[in-house]
Amino acid sequence: MIKIITVLVVATHILVGSTALNDVGFNYAGFQSANLTLDGAARIRTNGLLQLTNTTDSKSGAMGHAFFPSPINFKQTSNGSVFSFSTYFVFAMVPQFPTLAGGHGIVFVIAPTRGLPGAQSKRFLGLFNESNNGNATNHVFGVELDTDETNDFADINDNHVGIDINSLRSKAAKPAGYQASNGSSYDLTLTSGQPMQIWVEYNGLDKQIDVTLAPLSEAKPKSSLLTLKYDLSPILKKIMYVGFSSSTGSRPTSHYILGWSFQMNGVAKGLDLSRLPRLPRVGSKEVSKFLKIGLPLICIISLSILILGAIYYVRRRMKFAEVVEDWELGYGPRRFRYKDLYIATKGFKEKELLGAGGFGKVYRGVMPKNKIQVAVKKVSHESRQGIREFIAEIVSIGRLRHRNLVPLLGYCRRKGELLLVYEFMPNGSLDRFLYNQPKFTLNWNERFRVIKGVASGLFYLHEEWEQVVIHRDVKASNVLLDGEMNGRLGDFGLARLYDHGTVPQTTHVVGTLGYLAPEHNRTGKATTSTDVYAFGAFMLEVACGRRPIEPAAPTEDVILVDRVYSCWNRGEILEAVDPKLGENYVKEEVEMVLKLGLLCSHSEPLARPSMRQVVLYLECSVELPDLPSLGITATGLAFTQHDGFDDFASSFPSSSKKAWSNSSSIIAESVLSGGR
Ligand SMILES: *[C@@H]1O[C@H](CO)[C@@H](O)[C@H](O)[C@H]1NC(C)=O
Ligand SMILES: *[C@@H]1O[C@H](CO)[C@@H](O)[C@H](O)[C@H]1NC(C)=O
Ligand SMILES: *[C@@H]1O[C@H](CO)[C@@H](O)[C@H](O)[C@H]1NC(C)=O
Ligand SMILES: *[C@@H]1O[C@H](CO)[C@@H](O)[C@H](O)[C@H]1NC(C)=O
Ligand SMILES: *[C@@H]1O[C@H](CO)[C@@H](O)[C@H](O)[C@H]1NC(C)=O
Ligand SMILES: *[C@@H]1O[C@H](CO)[C@@H](O)[C@H](O)[C@H]1NC(C)=O
Repeated sequence: MIKIITVLVVATHILVGSTALNDVGFNYAGFQSANLTLDGAARIRTNGLLQLTNTTDSKSGAMGHAFFPSPINFKQTSNGSVFSFSTYFVFAMVPQFPTLAGGHGIVFVIAPTRGLPGAQSKRFLGLFNESNNGNATNHVFGVELDTDETNDFADINDNHVGIDINSLRSKAAKPAGYQASNGSSYDLTLTSGQPMQIWVEYNGLDKQIDVTLAPLSEAKPKSSLLTLKYDLSPILKKIMYVGFSSSTGSRPTSHYILGWSFQMNGVAKGLDLSRLPRLPRVGSKEVSKFLKIGLPLICIISLSILILGAIYYVRRRMKFAEVVEDWELGYGPRRFRYKDLYIATKGFKEKELLGAGGFGKVYRGVMPKNKIQVAVKKVSHESRQGIREFIAEIVSIGRLRHRNLVPLLGYCRRKGELLLVYEFMPNGSLDRFLYNQPKFTLNWNERFRVIKGVASGLFYLHEEWEQVVIHRDVKASNVLLDGEMNGRLGDFGLARLYDHGTVPQTTHVVGTLGYLAPEHNRTGKATTSTDVYAFGAFMLEVACGRRPIEPAAPTEDVILVDRVYSCWNRGEILEAVDPKLGENYVKEEVEMVLKLGLLCSHSEPLARPSMRQVVLYLECSVELPDLPSLGITATGLAFTQHDGFDDFASSFPSSSKKAWSNSSSIIAESVLSGGR
């Protein structure tokens, strides 16, 4: 009998030995090479990641098992006590929606079969079912990572580690956490989506189970999270299978095992963490679609927007760039911002153009902040030399206040460009009322008032202000009419820019043909007398209603001053008066203005009256002297004028000749030595 039993035992031993492995040990960092037995939702992804459940099949409550395929011998043959064993694995629980975390969990399981037939998902974790839960005939040992609080099984919370023996009612459980090497304890959230490591050890001698949890970044903590004295000998059969079980409930979660090692009768080997497969990106297909297409698209779009924004910004900066130097800061509010002027003039649109003269174009504008109407004159200047003095002058001229001067409000400077901001004169320039707009012409009273006004303004510039200001470009198109038809002299002091900006040996003669005194042509020097000469031409212009030079007129009448002179010489000075006035004028006033015009046009500067005298004559406070007594002769007037023009025209470039023949204002330039 004894022999037979022995044989039987030996036979069993041989039989078992041939199928079950002794002192089994394995370790997998990724499961490509592992021949795991899978069921349910479990599958091995192409990168070697073991996926026990996935989020898409969670609605029905998914379940998956993965078992090491070979049977393992767990017991001493002699006395039936369970060997020591240990296992170590890295897992991750990735909820689809972090706010809906908690999808039941993962269990490391030792079971008598490769799989757990009849087991249910959800709260049963794929281990048991309603009828066999807690039955000692199960022979199942498990360590659960449970993320659901199931009251039926007396769960401590929804984030715990428990030891299950034949039942989901854990023999021991602890909230997930670990003790760091420096002694501090930390909680862990199983469903954080981060990989974590866990050690399960059974000491066959002490009959003790230890479970230790830690984040991937930590080494194995010295003290375990969960310790249970329990003899597994009655629980485990001799031949058992090791693996994982997992289930999900209504909250979609993917459960993964990244790596696993197991050792019978020894310490499970560590894993090369760098070789662990990567987790798929968080979330469902829609999210990955979003990541694949949406995110790059958003990146490209926002990058484009950023680049466009940068380009726009740079271009805007360039567009509105202005030159400000330290010394200018002192001028404070006299300086305008280019951006404001740009907005005010709608970007210097042609539609806003008020006029174009020798010095530059003038635009109408409305200041964005206070809605004040302004006229902005764009003056181009090439040289930086002298600009400082010029600005200083502009600023001091800005302090000039006279009812017959157009107020200069301020300036703005850009590279190669100067912008002067004047008060806007609603009725425009005087010349429009004399000959450019025949529909409406000024009557004599209005004309006389304008002449007297301009005379008083020029007198202020010459004598009444702290400095002598020479206008240099007195003419009808530089006289503007305000709302009450008062004549106001504009553009004063501008010509100085050209003086300051040029090389000292040469001087630009600046002004308009027909208004330039003969000695100005010769010496290039502007004086109060040259202004008086121009004022004389202006007076004749207003009284006669035509320009000082009219190339279209009969030869003897081309030059206005010649014509007036010859009328006066014939004793018919009133013949020269503007025919548009008809008979509606004060004979004495017109005669006086025409004579004064001739007087101011005297070729000899000393023979011309000063502006002070001009004002007095115009006010009729002083009787005008007899012209013959002053030695006015045809030679004294016209021929000098002719000479001047001939010299002038011969030194003109062709483009300027064209301007001259168009009888518009031009900048006359002659290279003369001597300076200012
Ligand atoms: C989830 O599992 C099903 C099969 O059970 C599979 O068809 C599906 O592709 C898986 N989804 C993901 C995101 O892995
Ligand atoms: C994988 O395991 C099964 C049994 O579970 C076995 O039939 C099969 O031959 C094994 N395959 C490999 C490649 O080891
Ligand atoms: C079983 O036998 C082994 C030696 O084969 C011994 O180390 C162990 O302590 C024994 N266990 C019990 C419960 O007797
Ligand atoms: C429970 O599982 C056992 C086997 O583990 C099976 O025989 C039984 O039919 C199952 N019961 C139910 C209700 O599924
Ligand atoms: C345990 O399961 C066995 C069959 O697997 C059954 O005969 C027995 O009645 C069950 N015991 C309890 C307490 O449910
Ligand atoms: C303990 O170590 C952790 C890192 O593991 C650190 O964050 C924590 O501040 C440390 N605590 C103490 C008290 O040193």
